[in-house]
Amino acid sequence: MKVTIFGSGYVGLVSGACLADVGNDVVCVDIDEDKIRRLNGGEVPIFEPGLDQLIKRNKEANRLAFTTDLAAGVAHGLFQFIAVGTPPDEDGSADLQYVLSVAASIGEHMNEYKVIIDKSTVPVGTADRVRNRVKEVLAGRGMSGLEFDVVSNPEFLKEGDAIDDFMKPDRIVVGTDNPRTTELLRALYGPFNRNHDRLIAMDIRSAELTKYAANAMLATKISFMNELANIAEKVGADIEHVRIGIGSDPRIGYHFIYPGIGYGGSCFPKDVQALERSAREHGYPTRILEAVETVNYRQKEILFDKINGHFNGDLAGRTIALWGLSFKPNTDDMREAPSRVLMEALWKAGARVQAHDPAAMEETARIYGERDDLLLCDSPEAALQGADALAVATEWKVFRSPDFERIRQALKEPVIFDGRNLYDPLLLKRSGLVHYSIGRPR
Ligand SMILES: NC(=O)c1ccc[n+]([C@@H]2O[C@H](COP(=O)([O-])OP(=O)(O)OC[C@H]3O[C@@H](n4cnc5c(N)ncnc54)[C@H](O)[C@@H]3O)[C@@H](O)[C@H]2O)c1
Repeated sequence: MKVTIFGSGYVGLVSGACLADVGNDVVCVDIDEDKIRRLNGGEVPIFEPGLDQLIKRNKEANRLAFTTDLAAGVAHGLFQFIAVGTPPDEDGSADLQYVLSVAASIGEHMNEYKVIIDKSTVPVGTADRVRNRVKEVLAGRGMSGLEFDVVSNPEFLKEGDAIDDFMKPDRIVVGTDNPRTTELLRALYGPFNRNHDRLIAMDIRSAELTKYAANAMLATKISFMNELANIAEKVGADIEHVRIGIGSDPRIGYHFIYPGIGYGGSCFPKDVQALERSAREHGYPTRILEAVETVNYRQKEILFDKINGHFNGDLAGRTIALWGLSFKPNTDDMREAPSRVLMEALWKAGARVQAHDPAAMEETARIYGERDDLLLCDSPEAALQGADALAVATEWKVFRSPDFERIRQALKEPVIFDGRNLYDPLLLKRSGLVHYSIGRPR
């Protein structure tokens, strides 16, 4: 089948490569010329495990192509996926300018029936706006009679596991307003749906809300656990015992209840905000979502507070080694990463940061540029050299079982601020290291 994907970011590239890998003829379109030039030159502009091989294989088989030519993209696919960014507007609502600009391009260039599929995360009602935009543009061309359908097909992939998530999805949510498009989408997703039927068909508005509901629920779990971790610290309990204790209840489960230094990334923060905003627009103030955000905002500051407290507010001239920059492991994505809040607070207090991350150092350099108070180091060990203390902000595997003796020798003060509860407090105590973690007694 012929597929066009607008937007070659985390979602567009993974979707395009996976759809090509099962035999479809896919064209990925992006307005970012540099990105398309790099993709055509064999480079993959983002870090996602396995993606480079998948793209290479399908490009070589002529099933996957990249272009900035919007007209060629529209002409190519029966399926026109919109997978562009939906960043927050100044007021927190989703900025739909990129989505609607793609809709306008489709209206401008289409000459036959198309299925337009919203894969971007968008507020309820966006499919109607996409449909109206396409109609307006078609009317301007005197082609009002041209048929098309709009589908909501939100994406649930996780960065770091994105290919597996796309190839073996938990669910494929398809919101349509007629059975014909549901069947077309069922055929397109057939190869990812063989083991058992995972396609969940529903109306368009429910599909749009399902994506926000999923992210808001996950963000709520994180903020809930972080709130409990803070209570545990106050009352002298250990949140890691509490976590196991509650996770054993199948109604709660062990997934996604790790305490830490807050959620980041390109999805949870903006999606919680956008849902909140959209509910308010409909006259419904959202008590839970507001609390989820407030708790998360505060949690991102917690590691700095612990560091600052340990050094009695005297951080000027100190150097903090930082392990982990990306908002979670296995990605280079730094959007809303807790490490940024920590680094910025440390800099404000006059401290230097020596950081290492397995994938996000290029992105960190792009965001912050050259500065005297940031040194990006080639290895976790190099980041420790001459530092006063170590802080861990991302739970990359490589940080999980370090040589504590080496850490103790390299640091000026034997202290670790463990923002992800990676380390066993007893083991660290025995290694002569002072250990601050989240929600556990010291
Ligand atoms: N990143 C994730 O893990 C994830 C998961 C599920 C859903 N989503 C949602 O998917 C959408 C895309 O997210 P992302 O992380 O892939 O974004 P991204 O920022 O990585 O990529 C978006 C791409 O769209 C391109 N673009 C903008 N306007 C365009 C246009 N008119 N035509 C063609 N390309 C255009 C940009 O240049 C950019 O390359 C968002 O709505 C996001 O919320 C993201």
